[in-house]
Amino acid sequence: MNLIFLGPPGAGKGTQAQRLVQRLGIPQLSTGDILRKAVAQGTELGKQAKSLMESGKLVPDALVNGIIEGALAEPSAANGFLLDGFPRTVPQAEALDAMLRRRGKRVDAVVALEVPTEVLVSRLSGRFTCPKCSSIYHSTTRLPKADRLCDNDGAALVSRPDDAPDRVRQRLLEYEQKTAPLTGHYNRTGSLRRVDGVGSVEEVEQRVLRALGIS
Ligand code: AP5
Repeated sequence: MNLIFLGPPGAGKGTQAQRLVQRLGIPQLSTGDILRKAVAQGTELGKQAKSLMESGKLVPDALVNGIIEGALAEPSAANGFLLDGFPRTVPQAEALDAMLRRRGKRVDAVVALEVPTEVLVSRLSGRFTCPKCSSIYHSTTRLPKADRLCDNDGAALVSRPDDAPDRVRQRLLEYEQKTAPLTGHYNRTGSLRRVDGVGSVEEVEQRVLRALGIS
């Protein structure tokens, strides 16, 4: 399956994507995770993205389109993929359509996770992530087994700089202005599946599976 997870910051895209890719055996292509690794490693890509990401703004379309073009060419994406955080603008969606057409592929389904703003803010204010494997935790809803250490690899968990309240406001604004219009784009293609993202991680997972016709 070729899937897209769409939704505002904190909707649970990463959390649900990590569970679904394990079940389906396809790669999770997260532009946010790829960019954060590039920033941490100080690569040219990371240098171009760092200040924009930290201020809660989107990075230029050309940068992320290049990342996805490369990721789709990997053998691991040959039998399906889950895009998490891409596309985020109408030009990115159009670029993706063109990339997939060239490969004789298409998007099978776009899962749009719907969560009210006050829940998003509360989720982001308590989030911790693993800088090594990108596992996602929360200070009340998903605690690691050992205090502030990743269950997978024992790395010290970190808060994301863009989860500070003023950056969250900027990210929500970017989402409303640039990303929300994508629901119209994918509604027209018939691939949009709206999913209520409020409830426990397991409840939301069941709704995602139902929306995709996976039992
Ligand atoms: P990115 O990393 O993609 O961030 P985002 O879209 O803002 O999404 P988040 O990662 O914040 O949230 P999420 O929906 O994955 O929620 P999560 O599962 O973590 O992008 C970061 C930046 O990179 C952008 O601002 C931009 O600068 C740049 N960028 C990336 N892609 C780009 C693109 N295509 N174009 C341009 N720029 C791009 O969950 C959040 C918290 O809630 C966690 O603590 C989790 O444990 C908790 N939680 C999840 N589900 C539940 C639940 N059901 N109940 C209770 N708690 C839950």
